[in-house]
Amino acid sequence: MKRIVLFASGSGSNVENIVTYFSGHSNITVSCVLTNKRDAHVLDRCNRLGVPAFYFNKAGFVNTPLVLQLLKCLEPDLIVLAGFLLKIPPDLVNAFPGKIINIHPALLPKYGGKGMYGKHVHIAVKSEGESETGITIHYVNEHYDEGAIIKQFKVEIAKEDTVDQITAKVHALEHRHFPQVIEDILLES
Ligand code: GAR
Repeated sequence: MKRIVLFASGSGSNVENIVTYFSGHSNITVSCVLTNKRDAHVLDRCNRLGVPAFYFNKAGFVNTPLVLQLLKCLEPDLIVLAGFLLKIPPDLVNAFPGKIINIHPALLPKYGGKGMYGKHVHIAVKSEGESETGITIHYVNEHYDEGAIIKQFKVEIAKEDTVDQITAKVHALEHRHFPQVIEDILLES
């Protein structure tokens, strides 16, 4: 069985979608979810779904090897950042080469980097008057949103689309494609 460990910081709709997609899968399982937000809605979803979840604070993540040690025990085949908002420390990137992927809610290299996450991305896309946006699934290195791109998917934006409508379109794209891309990576590895 190949093992996925998910990282998330917020609502966790991608986490729920990924957990649901792989529940009952014959070769792939979600081992657990890790979060840096004690009050994140993703923890409620994990309770409802019966998925083990662990919380760590930023100090524990950045200044100690504890999360790395936990990950080494979990022996993940893939670490998936599904709405995780902290930068991954270099020792963690180095410990899992080619095994950490992220989803970004825009067409990188546009609208990436520090401060570009969640709604901030969609506000920027709207204010630039873009006619399309999308999602980028990429490998993680020690810089925000700069690792090699695995897949991108696009969606059109109408002039009258609000930021909330753009957010919904991007979420729909994420839910449609992310689990399948994860599955492809794991079945090819
Ligand atoms: C997703 O849109 C994801 O692409 C984004 O956070 C959202 C989490 O939604 N990630 C980033 O912005 C990372 N830079 P969710 O909690 O409902 O899955």
